[in-house]
Amino acid sequence: MYARIAGTGSYLPEKVLTNHDLEKLVDTSDKWITERTGIKKRHIAAEGETTCDMAEIAARRALEMAGRRAVDIDLIVLATTTPDKVFPSTACLLQKRLDIHGCAAFDIQAVCTGFVYALSIADRFIRTGGARCALVIGAEALSRLLDWTDRTTCVLFGDGAGAVMLEATDAPGIMSTHLHADGSYEHLLHVPAGVGQGYGRLIEGEAFMQMKGNEVFRMAVRTLGRIVDETLAANAIDKEDIDWIIPHQANHRIIEATAHKLKMSMDRVVVTIDEHGNTSAASIPLALDVAVRDGRIRRGEILIMEAFGGGFTWGSALLKY
Ligand code: UT7
Repeated sequence: MYARIAGTGSYLPEKVLTNHDLEKLVDTSDKWITERTGIKKRHIAAEGETTCDMAEIAARRALEMAGRRAVDIDLIVLATTTPDKVFPSTACLLQKRLDIHGCAAFDIQAVCTGFVYALSIADRFIRTGGARCALVIGAEALSRLLDWTDRTTCVLFGDGAGAVMLEATDAPGIMSTHLHADGSYEHLLHVPAGVGQGYGRLIEGEAFMQMKGNEVFRMAVRTLGRIVDETLAANAIDKEDIDWIIPHQANHRIIEATAHKLKMSMDRVVVTIDEHGNTSAASIPLALDVAVRDGRIRRGEILIMEAFGGGFTWGSALLKY
């Protein structure tokens, strides 16, 4: 038994924030952001627009492409770092919106690697007969975790959601997934406050993302190179067999380094960072949906997804679309 992607969907909030808009907020420039990151603009959730709102639209679009109805779904796995509430999970909130009842629904928190984690879990459910039609989502309202006076983080991130419908099938599909984490790097990329610290610290301004960008950058390049090797070796395939890289969109230079490692030209890499910024768990399913809908990715092609993020967490997926 394998899992295959039967449909994709995505959503971006209406409000667009350009690099020039950011020049008015912090001491930065379009030139610096473009050269160092590749980002030109990002979408920002409207006041009151939540992760679940965005996830719902992406999910309905994926359902429609798959030709499925919500009642067909027997598993929801939603990756997010910005849940609507502490609980219930955003997956449960989404289940209610879709008016379905009884199937397992839960959130996954692996920051920028969240979608790869969610995909891997749903794949394992399907392979072992625990589900036949799984909704897998990455959705983030990351703008709410940003200190809009901190130029080292606020220029990098954006909001959005991406979804895939996975179906049980007798041929791949998802060929392998690879998940890793090393919590000893917590201090390089984190939001200090949480429920465990008591709510007082939220008010003291520790509810914002803090990142030692340069150190994260170096680790990301090294680690993503290694996970690509691990994925190819596990499937006994060559670099030349890969049709598309769908990378997590954190930095254009990190994406280029991975493409270089695979000896793939950038026109075989789906790049959305210029338009979306870093949308954390949403970035891979957003990029996938863009390239499926514009006709670049076609049935039968081999894709590799790879991501690196807070934790640190990192992971990859190899699949036949
Ligand atoms: O998705 C989760 C994982 N996250 C990532 O993978 C992000 C990885 N890191 C990065 O993408 C890059 O490290 C950044 C884009 C965050 C930063 O680029 P960098 O080339 O590593 O720059 P840097 O942090 O070494 O900073 C270089 C300079 C510094 O000034 P000085 O000390 O050289 O005078 C910064 O203060 O750039 C300055 N700087 C800025 N200047 C203008 C930092 N942020 C800005 C800014 N505008 N927004």
